[in-house]
Amino acid sequence: MLSKKLESAINEQINAEIWSAYLYLSMSAHFGAEGLPGISNWFKVQFQEEMDHALKFMDYMIAKGNRVELSSIDKVGTSWNSILAAFEDTLQHEKVVTSRINNLVAMARDEKDFATENMLQWFVNEQVEEEEMAKALIDSIKLIGDNGFGIYTFDKELAQRTYNPLKSSASNE
Ligand code: FEO
Repeated sequence: MLSKKLESAINEQINAEIWSAYLYLSMSAHFGAEGLPGISNWFKVQFQEEMDHALKFMDYMIAKGNRVELSSIDKVGTSWNSILAAFEDTLQHEKVVTSRINNLVAMARDEKDFATENMLQWFVNEQVEEEEMAKALIDSIKLIGDNGFGIYTFDKELAQRTYNPLKSSASNE
């Protein structure tokens, strides 16, 4: 069983993951309305992955005999001035998530809760990928600039992203 302190911190993280999902769902809706279905798809997959992150934490807490308490989700933005602005917000947000995960690891280590520290390693690795992916997309968008054909191609490329559900929310797969 997790300590009350870790239980509360993970409940906060579940809220943060669902807030992330909400943010990306809003970005998906925005780009869908802007006539960019590929970018909309990319953010929709991002939304689904964030919900998986919340479920992974939830399943872990239940497996350990802890209580999951869901709280209200803060409002998110509803429009972005450019494709670049949305991906820069994405990277910025993922950096915040990385530091939250690092704080959880430090807390688990401090308490010698090695099972939780081990579970969190999945998220540590995931955050490296999340930041890397957002950075790579920002670089591409900067290269494309205002080139209409470039934006068209970028949108087509992002339409290819597919959602792969996590095999087991409580495991480290
Ligand atoms: Fe759940 Fe994008 O971190």
